[in-house]
Amino acid sequence: MREVYAKEEEKTSRVTPERVFVVVGNKAKTEPFNLNDLAGSAGRMDILCRCIAQTLFISHGVRKNSAVIIVLRGEPSPPKSVMVVGSEVKYMSPDERNIGGIIRKALSIKVGKEWVKSTPGVYVAKKDLKDVLEELKDYEKVYLKECGEDIRKVKFGRKVAFFLGDHIGLSEEDEKLIMSLADRVVSVSPLSLQADQCIVIVHNELDRVLLEE
Ligand SMILES: C[S@@+](CC[C@H](N)C(=O)[O-])C[C@H]1O[C@@H](n2cnc3c(N)ncnc32)[C@H](O)[C@@H]1O
Repeated sequence: MREVYAKEEEKTSRVTPERVFVVVGNKAKTEPFNLNDLAGSAGRMDILCRCIAQTLFISHGVRKNSAVIIVLRGEPSPPKSVMVVGSEVKYMSPDERNIGGIIRKALSIKVGKEWVKSTPGVYVAKKDLKDVLEELKDYEKVYLKECGEDIRKVKFGRKVAFFLGDHIGLSEEDEKLIMSLADRVVSVSPLSLQADQCIVIVHNELDRVLLEE
């Protein structure tokens, strides 16, 4: 039944929004997980759900120029990535449990290297961070890190992809990979914040620039 659903919905998608956030979930489960334990046995899936909510939702609306990719590295079949595209997403609300349910459904689909559509605007693939970086080759790439350049001093281009870690941060290896391709390292605050808080600040800074143009 699952496979039939996947075949009917199969479609490859390219990332085209202007703002993309990529969050690495170091322990996030790669098969359907317990929705009642997002912060525990699901491998801090709660953090990723909040990142999806803060990338996409404003008051009474969705940011159609934004997308979020969560890279899942937890057991039992890492890596996998789930992408949510603001211009296409439907039937999603900003609460963690609803978003968790949508990710859970995506993870029930058998996938290969190409994006497969799970529900409207939600895609899943057996992609790791390296694949995602390749896919975003046309984007200005920004590593969000506490020690970076102050976001208020940076002028961004039209298409920007921001990379963040979860509660653990990024491993040395991931950091090396991102640094080899990143255009810049940017800080959003003098404090070390949670990943979803960083996303809110980035949106706010870019919104202000956009509205002043
Ligand atoms: C909760 S923090 C990770 C903390 C982790 N213990 C570490 O040392 O990396 C989650 C992610 O948010 C981003 N982040 C946190 N504070 C930031 C800041 N002030 N500026 C830019 N990015 C930040 C980083 O990408 C970080 O990996």
